[in-house]
Amino acid sequence: MSGVNEIRSTFLDYFKKNGHEIVSSSPLVPRNDPTLMFTNAGMVQFKNVFTGLEQRPYKTAATAQKCVRAGGKHNDLDNVGYTARHHTFFEMLGNFSFGDYFKEQAIEHAWTLITKEFGIDAKRLLVTVYHTDDEAFNLWKKIAGLSDDKIIRIPTSDNFWAMGDTGPCGPCSEIFYDHGDHIWGGPPGSPEEDGDRFIEIWNLVFMQYEQITKEERVDLPRPSIDTGMGLERIAALLQGKHDNYDIDLFRALIAASEEATGVKAEGEQRASHRVIADHLRSSAFLIADGVLPSAEGRGYVLRRIMRRAMRHAELLGAREPLMWKLLPALIQQMGRAYPELVRAEALITETLKLEETKFRATLKRGLSLLSDATTTLGKGDMLDGETAFKLYDTYGFPLDLTQDALRAREINVDLAGFTDAMERQKAEARSHWAGSGDKATETIWFELRDKHGATEFLGYDTETAEGVVQAIVRDGAAVGEAAKGDKVQIVVNQTPFYGESGGQMGDTGVISSDNARIEITDTQRRGEGLFVHTGTVADGTVKTGDAVAMTVDHARRSRIRANHSATHLLHEALREVLGTHVAQKGSLVAPERLRFDVSHPKPMTAEELKQVEDMANEIILQNAPVTTRLMSVDDAIAEGAMALFGEKYGEEVRVVAMGQGLHGAKSNRPYSVELCGGTHVSATGDIGLVRILGDSAVSSGVRRLEAVTGETARAYLAEQDERVKALATSLKVQPAEVLTRVEALMDERRKLEKELADAKRKLAMGGGQGGSEEAVRDIGGVKFLGKAISGVDPKDLKGLADDGKAGLGSGVVTLIGVSDDGKASAVVAVTADLVGRFSAVDLVRIASAALGGKGGGGRPDMAQAGGPDGSKADEALEAVAAALAG
Ligand code: ALA
Repeated sequence: MSGVNEIRSTFLDYFKKNGHEIVSSSPLVPRNDPTLMFTNAGMVQFKNVFTGLEQRPYKTAATAQKCVRAGGKHNDLDNVGYTARHHTFFEMLGNFSFGDYFKEQAIEHAWTLITKEFGIDAKRLLVTVYHTDDEAFNLWKKIAGLSDDKIIRIPTSDNFWAMGDTGPCGPCSEIFYDHGDHIWGGPPGSPEEDGDRFIEIWNLVFMQYEQITKEERVDLPRPSIDTGMGLERIAALLQGKHDNYDIDLFRALIAASEEATGVKAEGEQRASHRVIADHLRSSAFLIADGVLPSAEGRGYVLRRIMRRAMRHAELLGAREPLMWKLLPALIQQMGRAYPELVRAEALITETLKLEETKFRATLKRGLSLLSDATTTLGKGDMLDGETAFKLYDTYGFPLDLTQDALRAREINVDLAGFTDAMERQKAEARSHWAGSGDKATETIWFELRDKHGATEFLGYDTETAEGVVQAIVRDGAAVGEAAKGDKVQIVVNQTPFYGESGGQMGDTGVISSDNARIEITDTQRRGEGLFVHTGTVADGTVKTGDAVAMTVDHARRSRIRANHSATHLLHEALREVLGTHVAQKGSLVAPERLRFDVSHPKPMTAEELKQVEDMANEIILQNAPVTTRLMSVDDAIAEGAMALFGEKYGEEVRVVAMGQGLHGAKSNRPYSVELCGGTHVSATGDIGLVRILGDSAVSSGVRRLEAVTGETARAYLAEQDERVKALATSLKVQPAEVLTRVEALMDERRKLEKELADAKRKLAMGGGQGGSEEAVRDIGGVKFLGKAISGVDPKDLKGLADDGKAGLGSGVVTLIGVSDDGKASAVVAVTADLVGRFSAVDLVRIASAALGGKGGGGRPDMAQAGGPDGSKADEALEAVAAALAG
């Protein structure tokens, strides 16, 4: 008997041996299909290969594809736990031919594999074909030797497989296994076909067409093959079981939950253990693929799955969160085939624990409300919609959880009443925002949000995705389409574009459809959860309902990522260097630089800035992984995550951690832990380098740091380096000697300036010996030195006047300095012995008046004034001389 892991390998090995490329399972969140909630078949990742849109280097392939069928069109959630073959998560084994082999070889491979490799008794097998597919009928006859009664023609859509309303499709042929007449049921197409005796094990789809619209179907470029075999079903068969939950993998998971709860999987408890085992798989795989529980979209489907399991854990008497404890058992079973489970172990554990802790807080009260509300109800009765809505709204009971809880008592829920209650609450919320003074232009976003729900953000994991246009807004109004040249705002059901928030700028890029190309210049968030892409239609016409491909400008986003992660490192480094009073006050994360405002009372010294920068670069060089987890705000803060004061956080937050502790830091806690919804590098080394450009004041107590990273930082440093080299060349020294050389030049310059001033002074006072005597006159026994001089700094005049006084011994000095622009300044100095007779202040005012000025001031022995008209310098001197003459 083979285990699940061996069966998977046998399948893949068989096709490898037969020239098929073994391709890894694609993620559960489809990147190439806007309409699909989860990957639900093996062919999803090859959709565009079938239609010829995408080329791959191989023509045949085989996969073991993880699939989720919960939410959306294929939804098995309600049945899981109560039946033998329903799962929310399963693996689909498949082989594919992209225009290589067709029906004959597909049938040959299938028959050989199951009868030879798997050794299944051919007598127990029968097949179906599409009623008009004679070719397949004859091939089965020829290859498998099946008698006519074992090849059943089916005229219904059961034997025409389509991916969805549109996409690749074709007739199919299914292989059934007869479990024997001890089990009730009839062959496919018979009235008893829903019984459990004949079980479908493999579906071979002869892909021939592409459904373009509901009405239009075209041929695929080349006939192709897509097959799908549920691993759990074939494992059950090969292990001699009739029930998928009895295979080795599920037995191991159920054993783990039996052990953790101390309750055997028997009787009424059997379904609970199965629900837990199944939901553990879908939850763990979804979380590993980037889905986190939330109130909308995929995240809500995950939450519904998790909470359904958690109620069953409660039914089994678990008093503590249970699901996370079972994860090691799952990893042991599936971790080798799906290493993403191992990589995401911490994230899955945290997320399961958090969700269960949170849900437990209301689960009990919700269950008791439910039991009060249903005491008088019995089989076939209906729980009122109002109560179901209250459970949903207040106690976090997804509708299907309430239905599941009432299932055993065969009580239904009034779905119309539930929807009414939900609508009433929405209307209430609407009246609230309409009347809250929001600008009219904002109203449209709330309306769109209300109509379409929040946009699903895929941009943590991918920069490209497909989506469906939900709304186009032009000039503030929703329109059905927009054409070339129009400036538009576009809402798509899901997006890889980051909407500006938390300081990180919105993404730019391209949104394109078969008929249009829109250049996106910004992405913003509006109306609580709507991502709005702003741009211009560069080509063609775009309509609501169009399928579009969305591509984020990768280079720009990479630079933003590096800058955002660098901001976290600088934040922590600032706290280490300056102290823990440092808190983030605001930030801007742009592609070309980052700006970061922090509370700190004084300018940072050059030494502090250097320390901060060094520390951040040290973590960059660690090239440590950057991890993201989802936690409750309280837990995150208890773990030391830095939360921003005044920031609005949801119940759960993303916690971004990077780097290892530095300088013997206290614990093995990461270097930086912050609550953050932004996008980050995957390892610190991706930042490359951080360079602080400087720090400045924003307001009192708040400093602003600006920095650059990566290529921008490198270019900045290269430019600085060029500058130093140019300096060195012009100074004719080595770059290392520039500073010494510049200091020497400065000294020399100071010396020369002094010498020059002295020389000028000498020149001004007459150019040397005896020169000044020429300007000295005797006025009534008082020596008067009067001189008009140019080219002297006015502030040197007083010094010159002192020199003049010293030269005279006793007398009056008047100097008129005339500047280049023709203005004059006058200084009058009176030697001490004459101060009684003449006032320098009075005399300087006389000079000033002659120069066209007014006033002047100083002391009786030295005064100064100015005047606009330097051409009157001689007149001013004469006026002073006249005043001395009395
Ligand atoms: N795509 C086919 C299926 O899902 C094989 O059944």
